[in-house]
Amino acid sequence: MKKVELNQLSKRQIELVDAAIEARKNAYAPYSNFKVGAAVLDEEDNIHTGCNIESIDYTLTSHAEMVAIDAMVKSGCRNLKEIAIVLKSTAYSVPCGLCRQKMVEFSNGNVSIVCVNLDSEEKIKEIFTTSLSELLPYAFKQL
Ligand code: THU
Ligand code: ZN
Repeated sequence: MKKVELNQLSKRQIELVDAAIEARKNAYAPYSNFKVGAAVLDEEDNIHTGCNIESIDYTLTSHAEMVAIDAMVKSGCRNLKEIAIVLKSTAYSVPCGLCRQKMVEFSNGNVSIVCVNLDSEEKIKEIFTTSLSELLPYAFKQL
């Protein structure tokens, strides 16, 4: 995982981050108060977004990354190339294990990931870049 500055991101990565910031505004997180936004870039260079959607029974909660990937699949595409996630955390920001496994399902394994951590004023505090293979080595898959 690499800590980078905004000006080190590509135009497309910035576009994804902006889309994730926008999607995060619709997060429904009354129980955790932890809003997450995500944007995926599919193999045809289309962007799909998602936010976390909680329910009083936590098991019904959808993660932002899952909602974005589901939107991509629903649109007819099954391969993501890049994903940006945006949240506000005191620690670093990365997709959880479940979301990593879902990325394995709907990619060729090469996914670049941009993680954005916001400050208390919702401004970008820090940015990390990583990849699916770095976050989930030896992923479960059946060939
Ligand atoms: N959350 C995500 O949206 N993505 C992740 O990968 C980690 C967790 C959401 C779920 C829940 O609404 C909130 O963050 C706190 O766990
Ligand atoms: Zn997750």
